[in-house]
Amino acid sequence: MQATAKAHPNIALIKYWGKRNAELNLPATGSISMTLDALWTETTARFDKTFDQDILILDGTQATQNATSRVSQFLDIFRSLSGTDQFARVESVNNFPTAAGLASSASGFAALALAASTSLGLDLAPTKLSELARRGSGSAARSIYGGFVEMSPGEKSDGADAFATQLYAESFWDVRLLVLIMSDASKQVSSTDGMNRTMATSPYYSAWKSTIPTDLDEMRVALKRKDIHRVGELAEHSCLKMHASSMASRPGIIYWNKGTVEAMNKVRELRNDGIPAYFTIDAGPQVKVLCLPEDEEKLTTHFQQLPGVEKVITASPGPGVSIVGESP
Ligand code: PMV
Repeated sequence: MQATAKAHPNIALIKYWGKRNAELNLPATGSISMTLDALWTETTARFDKTFDQDILILDGTQATQNATSRVSQFLDIFRSLSGTDQFARVESVNNFPTAAGLASSASGFAALALAASTSLGLDLAPTKLSELARRGSGSAARSIYGGFVEMSPGEKSDGADAFATQLYAESFWDVRLLVLIMSDASKQVSSTDGMNRTMATSPYYSAWKSTIPTDLDEMRVALKRKDIHRVGELAEHSCLKMHASSMASRPGIIYWNKGTVEAMNKVRELRNDGIPAYFTIDAGPQVKVLCLPEDEEKLTTHFQQLPGVEKVITASPGPGVSIVGESP
């Protein structure tokens, strides 16, 4: 059977950074995110006994050997669960540039987890799907759900309790996230390499880690109150703390470029003028700005005028992963 699943990337408001087990991709800390409606990945998986290898097509082009073997390893989990040794053809399309530093791995592995399990006839509970999506990419565990989502790091050594759950559905709070695509998307250290180096060499890593449980508690309360100032302040702080810990690695990791810093300053300038706007940044130069719907247009006009910004994409809280097509 062939199945097509659609998933949306998410942005962490409280970031995870570092793994407690690299092989099982177990996060060292919890995290809280918002799933984004405007961006999506659609992935089709077909297992067939006539195939003699796994094939991965990304945005219409056959993927590199590296990308294909990462997907093959991920598919092995589903093959072993369903007791098959059939190879698969996987075709994945993003409606946003894969290399734009947006979390294509989050939507990609969430969509693949559902497409692969459905095409193999496995009917998995969302928490199980989330646990398995995590094996592909830590943030993918959160893209199983829509709205506002919390990832638990778990305690078990096999990762059976390291999955995400939904805090609030997408209809809970109408906020916006403006994604500022930077023109200079210079090559970056991957999030996995960045985390490993930070854990191994940054004197700030343990300090960073020790503050996360309080951040998570405070974020849950702020979300419940739909308090844009508090949610924004906590998200901005979590982002700066994550980046400070990686900057203090050896050699230091700097994900920002000139445009990133200009955008951060602009957000704070606009905030001083009374507009509730707060930034967050992942393992790349793109700045994402959390704001209210009524300020979306005004803010977009300001950000479009920044020299380092190529494009602004607007997202609202979006849905979880779903099946959009099935055929025999
Ligand atoms: O999904 P990963 O394992 O590539 O890590 C994502 C890391 C951050 O985006 C920086 C933070 C997060 O919690 O999403």
